[in-house]
Amino acid sequence: MYTSKISGLGYYVPENVVTNDDLSKIMDTNDEWIQERTGIKQRRHIKKGDGNSTSVMGVKAAKIAIERADISKDDIELIIFATLSPDMYFPGGGVRVQDMMDMKTIPALDVRNQCSGFVYAISVADQFIKTGMYKNVLVIGSENHSGGLDMTTRGRGVSVIFGDGAGAAVLTRSKEEGRGILSTHLHSEGAHAKELSLEGPSTEHWVPEIIAEDPQENIPYYPYMNGQFVFKNAVVRFSEVINEGLQANNLTAADINMLIPHQANLRISQFVQRQFKLSDDQVYNNIQKYGNTTAASIPIALTEAWEEGKIKEGDLVVLAAFGSGFTWGSAIIKW
Ligand code: UT7
Repeated sequence: MYTSKISGLGYYVPENVVTNDDLSKIMDTNDEWIQERTGIKQRRHIKKGDGNSTSVMGVKAAKIAIERADISKDDIELIIFATLSPDMYFPGGGVRVQDMMDMKTIPALDVRNQCSGFVYAISVADQFIKTGMYKNVLVIGSENHSGGLDMTTRGRGVSVIFGDGAGAAVLTRSKEEGRGILSTHLHSEGAHAKELSLEGPSTEHWVPEIIAEDPQENIPYYPYMNGQFVFKNAVVRFSEVINEGLQANNLTAADINMLIPHQANLRISQFVQRQFKLSDDQVYNNIQKYGNTTAASIPIALTEAWEEGKIKEGDLVVLAAFGSGFTWGSAIIKW
């Protein structure tokens, strides 16, 4: 019986720091509102001409993860790329990474599960490894939000929250039972698809049609979020799916050494922390620095926590995510 372990982690964020005060110069918002509601102090945005894109950032994170896994890029047998902000409508970012890293003609799979993208991608990688099909799988979560946000007062309820960045993990086959990824748990509820969505451009909303119809008001090519509805669902689903993962492994919250929640909103993470009676040392948050980087948020946070020595051999690490779809999931890992 094979298991998969995370053998390498890496992340990359663009150099360009955008503070809440910077945003207040281009829209009607302020530092106090943003920090009070979300915990965010600043985020990174790609700067025009800095050479970054969703795939480019993914490559930068992947190179670090591969080096730390102590393997070569040629040892990777599958790329799984999670994003909601691909460079192109199609093809997805996976094949771009394969090309930019000059990898062999290995398969590249794109995952479109937004904030849950990394947990979904880890779960897929884990299944391929457990069945014996692949030995080393590269999983990337990367987002270029700043390229597609409405940076005016009209879009402030969404645009102040999101940031750019990428994180990556190498999953490697192992024979150590009871170690590595113990289980993953995935869910979706498409009835709420439109509550956090970007409808166009798509086959339902082609840009030429939108412009012809109503150039000023009808703008489904900016993200829409029913913030309070998303918040209410998030706190319930985070708790459910963490409990589901713990129960599946006969564990309790007391066994958790580190919870890495998707960095949706510091208030959501704090709510979950209280529910599970975890200390500040048991929950990792970095939304204050990077905002919500969707599919990239968990691998960036996981990498930082590991780099800071907060995750040690034998620790129980729980990943949990919730977002657009709605989709949500958890991964229970014995490090
Ligand atoms: O990662 C995917 C999952 N996403 C989430 O989990 C996000 C979940 N939702 C949230 O985090 C919160 O709902 C938000 C942070 C997005 C919004 O906080 P809220 O407390 O739900 O605020 P609200 O949308 O109810 O807006 C309250 C007020 C409104 O003004 P009025 O109508 O009371 O006069 C908004 O127009 O705040 C106003 N507002 C802002 N004011 C200053 C909305 N955005 C801003 C802003 N700056 N950026």
